[in-house]
Amino acid sequence: MSGLAIAPGRVNLIGEHTDYNGLPVLPMALDRDIRIEYSVTDRPVVRLDSPRARFDPFAFQLKRSIEAARQGDWSNYVRAAARGLLEHGVPLERGIEGTVAGNVPIASGLSSSSALVVASALALLNANGVEVGGDPGPAPAIARLELAALLARAERFVGLEGGGMDQAACLHGVAGHALRIDFEPLRVTPVAVPQRWRWVVASSLARAEKSRGARAAYNERAQQCREALAVVGGAEGEVVGFRDLVADADADGLLERARRALPRVLFRRFRHVVTEGRRVALAEVAMRDGDTRGFGDLMVRSHESLRDDYEVSTPELDEIVAVALQAGAAGARLTGAGFGGCAVALCEAGQVAPVMEALSARFYEPRLGASPSGDMMFAAQPSGGARVQIADG
Ligand code: GLA
Repeated sequence: MSGLAIAPGRVNLIGEHTDYNGLPVLPMALDRDIRIEYSVTDRPVVRLDSPRARFDPFAFQLKRSIEAARQGDWSNYVRAAARGLLEHGVPLERGIEGTVAGNVPIASGLSSSSALVVASALALLNANGVEVGGDPGPAPAIARLELAALLARAERFVGLEGGGMDQAACLHGVAGHALRIDFEPLRVTPVAVPQRWRWVVASSLARAEKSRGARAAYNERAQQCREALAVVGGAEGEVVGFRDLVADADADGLLERARRALPRVLFRRFRHVVTEGRRVALAEVAMRDGDTRGFGDLMVRSHESLRDDYEVSTPELDEIVAVALQAGAAGARLTGAGFGGCAVALCEAGQVAPVMEALSARFYEPRLGASPSGDMMFAAQPSGGARVQIADG
């Protein structure tokens, strides 16, 4: 038997660094994906290669204690998926052999790594006769939400203390829709993207490699949020989560209390998380109402907060945002973890060409001496979620 596992990347529209704090996000699945073309083997072994020179072929045994390869090795994402499934109690008696390809730009904040984790999991589940999502029936099955949650935990195997946004967006993508994702417990609510809205994704040309450089800075932010929460959320004895704090109607009062209780840096991290959580709720309403300006303004405020309070932007990302806005985008912000990677801009249909032309002329051409490639800048479509196509038998 052979098959093709397809898993899209995602672009997050708003709600950055909120997922691991238990607050919602609003991404959409991309029309770009990672694909594993595989055949099923009777031996419990995974053997994969890639047409890209920088990704060496690898093989490992499917057993409970799968070991990590060296840090930064791409096989760790596949190992993470296998390990997560085994730890969840899915018996993986059969393996896969095949090739990984894809067109999600790598290390760009577009979740190519989670797409690889999800595609690997789908291929392994399919090889072992476990259905994903299907109706309860005689065949063993796993719900998509359950799979998303377990793969989010499993991906921490690479050392990044990530939240659950990427895997959930990849597994739950719906064409034409953004996805409001809530955590603890995980829930996904598709929200229709207004017909005339377009999303321009533009790379800052700096890699944001989750398994390498950006990892320590990301984990430091997660740790700072835990510290801030322990002080502010623990003021009345038991520690409450960000969600309970934000549910409190007195937003100004909460920030004032936090300002008094926290050292300066922790206060700024805290303020970003709390205000970003509120922006996601407002952005969902703006999207449902087709309020382009409202959504765009929230994106701009999100970027400012990520730049000033959370300190995960770069001068290049700031410049892309500024150029896009000057050229007529309704809103723009960095997307994903930051520290490089991409920005996303919201445009009405007629503004896409002028925004792309301005980015090309003012950001890319001075740096590249040429126009950007289609992987550096593109218009993204909200797309469907991860799936497996069976080739035969
Ligand atoms: C990375 C993580 C996500 C999320 C974003 C920031 O993509 O994998 O879980 O935390 O950063 O919003």
